[in-house]
Amino acid sequence: MADEPLVLGIETSCDETGVGIVRGSTLLADAVASSVDEHARFGGVVPEVASRAHLEAVVPTIERALKDAGVSARDLDGIAVTAGPGLAGALLVGVSAAKAYAYALGKPLYGVNHLASHICVDQLEHGALPEPTMALLVSGGHSSLLLSTDITSDVRPMGATIDDAAGEAFDKIARVLDLGFPGGPVIDRYAREGDPEAIAFPRGLTGPRDPAYDFSFSGLKTAVARWIEARRAAGEDVPVRDVAASFQEAVVDVLTRKAVRACKDQGVDHLMIGGGVAANSRLRVLAQERCEAAGIRLRVPRPKLCTDNGAMVAALGAEMVARNRAASSWDLSADSSLPVTDPHVPGAPHSPTHSHPHTHDHVHEISKENLYS
Ligand code: KG4
Ligand code: ZN
Repeated sequence: MADEPLVLGIETSCDETGVGIVRGSTLLADAVASSVDEHARFGGVVPEVASRAHLEAVVPTIERALKDAGVSARDLDGIAVTAGPGLAGALLVGVSAAKAYAYALGKPLYGVNHLASHICVDQLEHGALPEPTMALLVSGGHSSLLLSTDITSDVRPMGATIDDAAGEAFDKIARVLDLGFPGGPVIDRYAREGDPEAIAFPRGLTGPRDPAYDFSFSGLKTAVARWIEARRAAGEDVPVRDVAASFQEAVVDVLTRKAVRACKDQGVDHLMIGGGVAANSRLRVLAQERCEAAGIRLRVPRPKLCTDNGAMVAALGAEMVARNRAASSWDLSADSSLPVTDPHVPGAPHSPTHSHPHTHDHVHEISKENLYS
């Protein structure tokens, strides 16, 4: 609908420069430039390399998204940007770009939370999020169960990992198996041809006295690494597909079991799964089976919207505009450890539209010449 907010979102918290444009909950553009290949030879994301890649990619990616969406920057109702959590230097590139565009165009600026964005993105695929929604957020840096009654203002942590994030475990095991980086997609592929019951790997924090909603993947990671080492030491071949399948099964078994339990305990009948690990094919199947058996409606965005992207930031920004949340102030800064309980970083009320009536041409001046010089 034409009266829904038109918002551009910028994501630079890790190794993807993402720029999305949405109108309300309709996705108009989702441009992503990834520096993942530059990190692959290091076996993980190198912050300084990521920041430099964002610097090069951010303006062209913004321009591409505007072109893909067929809209003019002047028509935007707001500019949203990931303010945290994430890599400090990488976040700073996105925040600086968002400020420059917002200031030059006279548009409100919304610094939003990366984690809440991973949840909100599902509105682009399945419509308004039910309130309350239970969200299982599983990415390279986070694994949490979150209960939200309003994604713009109320996100409550129910449980989280006490050591590694789920995605981190995938990346580490892929490294042990010499499968490259990032590990999630490649383990997912190998696991499809393996037997998930070949090896009984441990399920962390599932004992009767363990915290019901917290996760632990470090014991599993060690168990898998030891199992592989023992095989190699004995001069035997490592059955990569069976190891991948059995490891993956241990992760997704625990994730889905705890998520369904949290829904049941809290009387919530919708489960949303978001973050890069939500792209995992086995997680999606098992979650669907277990939710169906428990009478819970499952919502998982398509894989491209699960991994980091700008559309998720635009989606949360549009929700901020629609709900009249305060814009961020011009002194918005990147917060590498922004708590999950802060969906956005509000500032003192301001009305940039009236104080800085600049034209689209100014954007080119600022972004290309002044911004990083
Ligand atoms: O959300 P995301 O793109 O970035 C962060 O915010 O961390 O998540 C990246 C993580 C990586 O650890 C990657 O290995 C994992 O998501 N991942 C997957 C899959 N695709 C990406 N894990 C399991 N299966 C997948 N298909
Ligand atoms: Zn993420």
